[in-house]
Amino acid sequence: MENIYPIEKMSKADKEKLLGQRGLMIWFTGLSGSGKSTLAIALEKELHDRKILCTILDGDNIRSGINNNLGFTEADRIENIRRIAEVGKLFVETGIVTLAAFISPSNDIRKMAADIIGHENFFEVYVSTSLEVCEQRDVKGLYAKARQGIVKNFTGISAPFEVPQNPSIVIDTAAHPIEESVKMLLDAILPKVK
Ligand code: ADX
Repeated sequence: MENIYPIEKMSKADKEKLLGQRGLMIWFTGLSGSGKSTLAIALEKELHDRKILCTILDGDNIRSGINNNLGFTEADRIENIRRIAEVGKLFVETGIVTLAAFISPSNDIRKMAADIIGHENFFEVYVSTSLEVCEQRDVKGLYAKARQGIVKNFTGISAPFEVPQNPSIVIDTAAHPIEESVKMLLDAILPKVK
């Protein structure tokens, strides 16, 4: 009998046609407490309301699950981001708008993520909220512990954060109310996904 099935797998473009959207990675980078997850959650809601299928990868679902064997040495951070990028790539290639919120502290780490996912599918959001503001917010009390030396290798205090060289957009959450930041993101991203 003749085989009625195609030999080639369905492509990213096939999935995108089905969903009526483009798969894209929106990669938030910035210090702990800078507002990455908050922005990702708010942006996901706005995109969802516009019938765009999204998913969020952040500490809540990644560092507590697939990456729960990793800490904060440089090697562990690289492995953390490598796995996130590989998982993110699967979503993006399924046509899903994927929002990833991780410190991802170095240019090399962010480049690795973009190399895995594909630079054409990688939209980098630098959440530039200053160390002073993040430390003052200290939502999780970790900056205080880092200053006391109780938490080691803490980004911004005892581990480096490299400012992104060529981000797609820069958002300082201390300079604008959240609605304004989300609007800036939406204006930049909507034309790329719909
Ligand atoms: S990354 O550097 O590997 O990208 P990731 O975003 O996954 O970091 O995790 C950062 C979160 O882990 C912080 O927001 C903070 O809550 C927590 N954390 C615990 N220890 C550290 C540390 N030494 N440095 C930075 N963040 C830490």
